[in-house]
Amino acid sequence: MKLLITGASGLLGINLAMEAMREHEVVGVDRGKLKSAPFQVLKADILKTNEINSILDSTNPNWLINCAALANLEKCEEDPTQARILNTELPGELATACAKRNIQFVHVSTDSVFDGTKEGIYTEEDEPSPPGVYSQTKLDGERAVEQADPRAIIARVNFYGWSLGAKRSLGEFFVNNLSEGKKVNGFTDVIFCPMLVNDTARLLLEMLKKNLSGLYHVVGPQAMNKYQFGMEVARTFGLSESLISPKSVLSSELTAKRSHNLWLSIHKLSTDLGREIPSFSTGLIEFYTQFQQGYPQKIRGYQH
Ligand SMILES: NC(=O)c1ccc[n+]([C@@H]2O[C@H](COP(=O)([O-])OP(=O)(O)OC[C@H]3O[C@@H](n4cnc5c(N)ncnc54)[C@H](OP(=O)(O)O)[C@@H]3O)[C@@H](O)[C@H]2O)c1
Repeated sequence: MKLLITGASGLLGINLAMEAMREHEVVGVDRGKLKSAPFQVLKADILKTNEINSILDSTNPNWLINCAALANLEKCEEDPTQARILNTELPGELATACAKRNIQFVHVSTDSVFDGTKEGIYTEEDEPSPPGVYSQTKLDGERAVEQADPRAIIARVNFYGWSLGAKRSLGEFFVNNLSEGKKVNGFTDVIFCPMLVNDTARLLLEMLKKNLSGLYHVVGPQAMNKYQFGMEVARTFGLSESLISPKSVLSSELTAKRSHNLWLSIHKLSTDLGREIPSFSTGLIEFYTQFQQGYPQKIRGYQH
């Protein structure tokens, strides 16, 4: 199959390209960060009028996974207009263009469409209640996609992994700081379901192969708070757990509101794929193995 990835330089984009190229023809769309990547890269500004249509016509993919977004919560609060353009309007336009050409489209959404006030687990049936600009614009993106292309997959994700800039994920945050002997805080009151980004990528590809469509939670099977996540990373990498202090997110300098409970059910996903979702510990061991094998340096070498 031929897969087009928009936002190929991002944390998900680059890892998805690396996973997909094992089996598929990959074309990554990027606005200029990538060089010498082991897959085809198309330099383009996807926000330019008609650019999407001309990219789809010239590449003619079977699948499109959009990984471009304004995914920094603080930046979204600072620039809601840009957040809306990237997180709502762009996915809507991509879905429209894909529906016209019979291209299977994947919209990558977020676990944080929920405000976290529910006690217990969120299913796809629960009504979202976004707590800020990022989550609101992502939810509006889901709705724009649903309307334009009911066949599209909408995947609410949460992942960590190695990124081009070495700073994009929470996993990298703990590894980088603890490796330098720096003290860090781990939030005890933010519960989430982290998944290794390579597992996320492989699941998205499997969902496409199985011809799934509609809304899915695509997160890890184990809920934990961010402090516990940091402790697990420290243990696996043989780094000092005592450098991590348990703290409340309310004591942090982060300005955008965070949901306290993002425990999402993956029952629908595992049922429709007919298999278990990779465990947290399997993903974390792969994250460490990648580190030992020089994967972070390898992907960083693909940028200008
Ligand atoms: N990280 C997580 O745990 C997480 C959690 C929930 C949902 N998500 C969702 O997962 C998706 C991927 O997230 P990520 O963490 O991989 O994000 P990321 O690392 O910040 O990557 C974002 C991508 O979007 C591109 N982009 C940003 N502004 C652009 C613009 N004006 N024109 C074209 N491209 C632009 C970036 O290109 P440049 O490199 O050129 O800036 C980059 O390739 C997003 O939809 C995000 O909302 C992520």
